This record gives sequence, structure tokens and C-alpha cells, in this order.
Amino acid sequence: MALTMAGQEAKGATAFITLEPCSHFGRTGPCAKALVDAGVKRVVVGTTDPNPKVSGNGLDLLRRFGVDVSVGIEEEACKDLIRPFAWHIRTDRPWVHAKWAMSADGKIASLSGDSKWISGEKSREWVHELRGAVDAVVVGSGTALTDDPLLNARPWGNRTPARILLDRRGRTPATQRLAQSTAEGPVVLITSKLAPFAWKRAWRAKGVEILVAEDGLNALQEMAQSRGWTEILLEGGAGILGAAFARGIVNEAHVFVGAKILGGVVAPGPIGSPIGDPGAISMAGAHQLILAQCQVSGPDVRLRYWVQETPTGGSLGLPKTEESV
Ligand SMILES: NC(=O)c1ccc[n+]([C@@H]2O[C@H](COP(=O)([O-])OP(=O)(O)OC[C@H]3O[C@@H](n4cnc5c(N)ncnc54)[C@H](OP(=O)(O)O)[C@@H]3O)[C@@H](O)[C@H]2O)c1
Repeated sequence: MALTMAGQEAKGATAFITLEPCSHFGRTGPCAKALVDAGVKRVVVGTTDPNPKVSGNGLDLLRRFGVDVSVGIEEEACKDLIRPFAWHIRTDRPWVHAKWAMSADGKIASLSGDSKWISGEKSREWVHELRGAVDAVVVGSGTALTDDPLLNARPWGNRTPARILLDRRGRTPATQRLAQSTAEGPVVLITSKLAPFAWKRAWRAKGVEILVAEDGLNALQEMAQSRGWTEILLEGGAGILGAAFARGIVNEAHVFVGAKILGGVVAPGPIGSPIGDPGAISMAGAHQLILAQCQVSGPDVRLRYWVQETPTGGSLGLPKTEESV
């Protein structure tokens, strides 16, 4: 796309690229060849392709055609940018983002369940940007019943995420906005045998894909693998995030701390903590995070973390460091 935009100006130019350009035909043609054809004279590459089968081939192709190549410039920063892609290549599993907005006292909703809005406009823009960059956005029935979310990206990003609802018992009515908006993008309902037949029929009639599974989160992972999805965004609520963290499938957490205090002791049910059951019994069971980014977002603070390891010590895309042991 950058080459198309540059047009004739690419001739004799230097291209700065995060990831080694590919040399094979995938969803698009080989990027290395496109650079050669455009007449680019020098290519500065951040990091090589993490796929051992293709790593180095793109650089070789460029050099064969006389392009001057420099590799490893700002390599660590570039590796951070491609972390989800590298994870997917290595594990064949999607990179899972978890996102929540909480008040300054750590609550994700008021006592009535209302959570609009804990964070400000700027933070919500970030969330829409994130949705537009992933393959699927997921919520549980508790969030659907309380918030009736659309889960689309406004404006659309470079992907149109599938919008996925996890509802085992068939509690969410097909009058919800998700069911009414299938023309905007795909909606998938992952349910179980417990859900009534008539309820599934009502959702299917709206053009929603229905998947009956024993284990919704497993089904979600399998669906991602079979469809080649590389990134999934879990938008809560506490029930889904609790289950996902407990399974050790979360790779990255996006936390928006709103400039509000909701107060009160923890309300009945999962409302309160952003991450529901099962919680850690002791500090030894805590999920270790690495702060990747911290920035001011309008009146809020935006925090981005990589999840370093599961409480059982399983590594999630990042090696253990001395401090985390
Ligand atoms: N501030 C924020 O960022 C934010 C984000 C989202 C939600 N919220 C708030 O959070 C509250 C809802 O919380 P919640 O915990 O009820 O929502 P939730 O996590 O969206 O839904 C929980 C429900 O999901 C279903 N479910 C399906 N598969 C599951 C699995 N594998 N593990 C666990 N549950 C599964 C369960 O119902 P079934 O057994 O019937 O399937 C469970 O009761 C609302 O007040 C909402 O406004 C806030």
C-alpha cells in the first residue's frame, strides 16, 4: 500500500520496514519483489521474519536484485510491534488481548451494573482502533444482557472483526443489537446444549452463525485456528476474563483507568473486579505482567501489559525474567 501511495517517488528511494519483506505468494504477492519492481534502492529492515521457513529469503531476494539492505535497526522495538504475528507463527494460536475500563478504585461497573462510561471519549477511540485491528471481538452473556453492545469498530479499521457472544444457557435475546446488525459484519454465537432450540433458531434467523460446543473458550481457540485468525480481543466482562486468565490464554492486557471513583464494597456477583473467578488465593498465584506502555488518554490513564506467565509457570509468549521468579 505504501508503495502504491509513493508511486514514481519510490524510484531510488530508501524504504524503512518493520518486518523483513516476504518473498512468497500469500494473501498478497511477494513484498520483496514489489520493492524491487518499484525501483527502491535501499531497504532498512527492523527484524527478520520469525517464520524459520521463510526467514532470510526476502532479504536474499532484495540483495540478488542489487538492493542495499540493512537489518536489525531498532530491532527490539520492531519485535514488540510484531509480537502477535510472531506468537501466531510459533504456536499456531491467536494472540489474545483482554481489555477493560475501570474506575480509579478498580471497579468495572456501578452497583446497578451500568458501566457507561467509566472511561472518556479518547480511551473509547483507542478501543475502536483496537477492534479494527483484530479478527474477532468477544463478550460474554453478562455483558450482552447489561450493555447490549454492537462491538463494531467505528470507523472501520483494516479488518472487520467477527463479533462473538459466549452464551451457554441461551439467556441473551435475539432482539439485541448484535443480532440486528449482521449486515455490518459477521456475528457468531458460541453456545452449549443447555440453550433452548427456539432461542438458537431465533438467532440463526437473524443471520448469526451458531456453534454448539462443550467448552466455549476452547471452541473459540479452535475457530481462530481453523480460520487463520491471528488476534482476538476479549472485551469482558469479569466472567469471561476470569475464565480466560485462569486458562492462561491471555497474552496482552489493555487497562483504561477512568478518572472516577465508584466506591462501595464488592457488589454481589462478578460486578466489581474486572477479572472474575477464580481469583488467586495467594500472591504466588498472581499473573505476572510486564508494563509495555503507559500513557495519558484524555482524563484517563491507558496501560498496556504483556502477560508474562500463567500462575502455573507456563510461558505466554514472553520468557521469564529474573524479577518475575
Ligand atoms: N468496564 C468494562 O470494561 C466492562 C466490560 C464488559 C462488561 N462490563 C460490565 O460487567 C458486567 C457483566 O459482567 P459479567 O461477568 O456478568 O459478564 P460476562 O463475562 O460478559 O458474562 C459472564 C457470563 O458469560 C457466560 N459464559 C459463557 N462462557 C463462559 C465461560 N467459558 N466462562 C465464564 N462465563 C461464560 C456465563 O453465562 P452462561 O453460563 O449463561 O453462558 C457467565 O455468566 C456488566 O455490568 C457490564 O456492564 C464492564
